[in-house]
Amino acid sequence: MTSNSVSLFFLFFLLCFYVHLFHNEVTLVKSVRGGKSTNLAQERLFVNVIKPQNSSQVKRVVEFPLPSVHECIVSPGSRFDCGRDRLLSRAECEDRGCCFSPLPLSPGPPWCFYPHMYPGYRLGPFSPTERGQAATLTRETPSYLPKDVSTLSLEVMELNADCLHLTVKDPSSQRYEVQIPGVVPQSKADAAEVLYTIQYQHNPFGFIVQRKSNRRVIMDTTVAPLLFADQYLQLSTMLASTLVSGLGEHYTTLILDLNWTSLTFWNRDMAPHADVNLYGSHPFYIVQEEDGFAHGVFLLNSNAIGYPMMPPYWSLGFHLCRWGYTTTNATRRVVQHMHEANIPLDVQWNDLDYASERRVFTFDPLRFGDLPEMVEEFHKRGMKYILILDPGISSTSPPGTYPPFDDGLRRDVFIKNATGHVLIGKVWPGPTAFPDFTNPETRVWWDDFIKNFHSKVPVDGLWIDMNEPASFVQGSVDGCPDSDLENPPYTPRVVGRQLNSGTLCMSAQQKLSTHYNLHNLYGLTEAYATHRALMNIQQTRPFVLSRSSFPGIGQFSAVWTGDVRSDWEQLRYSILAVLQFSLFGVPLVGADVCGFGGNTTEELCVRWMQLGAFYPFMRNHNDKPNAPQEPYVFGQKAQAAMRSALNLRYSLLPFLYTLFHHAHTSADTVARPLFMEFPTDPNCWTIDHQFLWGSSLLISPVLDEGVVELVAYLPPGTWYSLQNGQPFYSNGQYLLLPAPLDTINVHVREGHIVPRQEPALTTTASRLNPFFLTVALSAGGWAWGDMFWDDGDSLDSFEMQKYCYVVFIVGQSQMISEPIKLNGALDGLVLGGLQVFGVLSAPRYVIANGEKVQDYTYHTDTMVLTVTGLTLPMSEVFTVQWIL
Ligand code: GLC
Repeated sequence: MTSNSVSLFFLFFLLCFYVHLFHNEVTLVKSVRGGKSTNLAQERLFVNVIKPQNSSQVKRVVEFPLPSVHECIVSPGSRFDCGRDRLLSRAECEDRGCCFSPLPLSPGPPWCFYPHMYPGYRLGPFSPTERGQAATLTRETPSYLPKDVSTLSLEVMELNADCLHLTVKDPSSQRYEVQIPGVVPQSKADAAEVLYTIQYQHNPFGFIVQRKSNRRVIMDTTVAPLLFADQYLQLSTMLASTLVSGLGEHYTTLILDLNWTSLTFWNRDMAPHADVNLYGSHPFYIVQEEDGFAHGVFLLNSNAIGYPMMPPYWSLGFHLCRWGYTTTNATRRVVQHMHEANIPLDVQWNDLDYASERRVFTFDPLRFGDLPEMVEEFHKRGMKYILILDPGISSTSPPGTYPPFDDGLRRDVFIKNATGHVLIGKVWPGPTAFPDFTNPETRVWWDDFIKNFHSKVPVDGLWIDMNEPASFVQGSVDGCPDSDLENPPYTPRVVGRQLNSGTLCMSAQQKLSTHYNLHNLYGLTEAYATHRALMNIQQTRPFVLSRSSFPGIGQFSAVWTGDVRSDWEQLRYSILAVLQFSLFGVPLVGADVCGFGGNTTEELCVRWMQLGAFYPFMRNHNDKPNAPQEPYVFGQKAQAAMRSALNLRYSLLPFLYTLFHHAHTSADTVARPLFMEFPTDPNCWTIDHQFLWGSSLLISPVLDEGVVELVAYLPPGTWYSLQNGQPFYSNGQYLLLPAPLDTINVHVREGHIVPRQEPALTTTASRLNPFFLTVALSAGGWAWGDMFWDDGDSLDSFEMQKYCYVVFIVGQSQMISEPIKLNGALDGLVLGGLQVFGVLSAPRYVIANGEKVQDYTYHTDTMVLTVTGLTLPMSEVFTVQWIL
């Protein structure tokens, strides 16, 4: 038995951002009536949670009465697919008791659809449970699906005022459910505060969730029957609006296309392009309700888990990598060139080049023999070092020569095939076995090998790639058995048309369950094991970068968007990808800057470095055969532009770090879509070529070739150019902004204070530099900002109270800096100055802590006051006044 329970979380106002787990293959079909209509009542989401069946088994299991003509009067836009599992003839459709009516549109409404009140489950009486209430769902006649489950349990839990959790399960059999460490909120919401109501249709069963305040229907599943069989789950709903985002990882726009499209969740080694399943699976969506309200729905099958991890400070610096740094000396030269070009670099990487015959946990004695020394040299420069660690363990070295495989065999850590032998696939080193990270012994084995390697090569982080898991042969080198798992009757639209294409056999056995059940969790389980191993070894905050992802991974790892091409389209796509991962609880995310596949151009690389300077995670990475794309290989003008983008990023790191603190402690987003800050502004609902950092900075990058000015949207209010403080008073307008090659447009929002620090070539150095503040005054002359600061890499510094938190407030021409919490991390650090944007007239003088300041300038044209030369201790209360 392989189907899972279905859990749905409704998150109101997006306050409650639980990251939960869901491992099934899921297909979503969304449609809008009449294709282009925006009539809200007619939009719908059709969620098929599909587990495949064997097509030969799909035969009529029960007689359904033919629906009447009347029952089949359903407008095309309100049709729900009765043949989602396979294409049906008229006779087969009517055999299911469904309506058949062909239409010429493609993509378009289904031809075979449910009549009104199609039979389903009947809801029994509710009884109270520890966390809410429960009822039984029963169906008298089985559905048309094989191995239909006739009795289900429903549990409804009001987790919070703004979070509702529903679970539907098969109570009669033990089915796989994902387990991930974390905390499930157990409290029950206070009924008076709950923001939603839930109503039920008893027969056929369906539920309707409504927002209490305006009675808007958030979800209505009475529109089509709930189907629940061994390998097929289906739930359908209407949507509250067409503004749906999320459901990654796919190559889409921020607002998803609702014109009868399908999205498949199946982790796959696949360079980003349209209409395919990519590296990660995130069955979570957000609907903007068009009046400033929003809600999210998460479909899962297991327990709730925690907020995103707090990254080490250095990981927010610039990372440089390529496949093709073939020796330590070549790698050293890269670092030296960066240094000589005066371009910040925190982390140097190596790809598989370092490994002997591409086998992980080794380093090539000839080309990388002095790898440990090289890493020490980088450390002495205040830099960090990361290398790749693929999961595939080479299985063809002579016995006794490659301990990871020999020891892994002995400790029984590898995934098995259906007959209980170690499954062998093929990845970069050739034939490989795959560690089963759901097995606790594997995690200890992984720990041991990482520890051993680390004792020789003290890496600062690990890059876990190819973990969908990817394999260059289908299933295994010996193929896969013919079974329901390998050859399901309904194979979702995955790349390669077979679930085992480019990966392992579905019948492969892992400790917790079959690979069929665990496939999408492979990267997550590896990320967890790797995070844990690094934490144990280093006793500092681990840094892991994963390609494959699943809800919950943000707790353990950063994610990058895989093998993007070096072209302008992929540059544009990268913003959407970053914003989506923000919504999925993975704030530390970025695309390969300047592109991975194909040759970049100088102009593209400059623009990508500028945009990349605002990816939460910034790494320039390149494929082997391509033209080099390290910043120093380009002309002086391009280098200057890249240097200035990096210096800008480095100057903003205290602010970025503070945003990560908020993500870690309250699940805020870091890179943020405009709609989250301006939910009532229709212009913001769909924007994915601009984005925000937190609520304060608006980033408007150039995304097209040959462009030196761009049209950017500024939401209502005053926005100041971060570059020179020039104010723009916007009524919600599109503005033409100059954007020469050396410029990325960034605007500061009125009322906000951004903590900054003088940049340096590494964060080790920049963290000692004077801070400065960028103050963007509101029309009323006030502003607010905050800063989280700690030693940058201690474990649980927030949880253990080992941090500083400072609040900055401006009003009536006075700025007060007030440390709310201190622990010593700010000792010796000073505020060196501040820029105040929007000072309406020239100050007569400036006072800091009661004393007149000499070093200040005021620009009448831009209304910017710049104060320099201060040495105000950050760990003390201080004031700066400008007397008008
Ligand atoms: C995969 C990764 C890429 C890496 C390569 C070699 O294609 O996505 O980033 O460089 O493998 O390890």
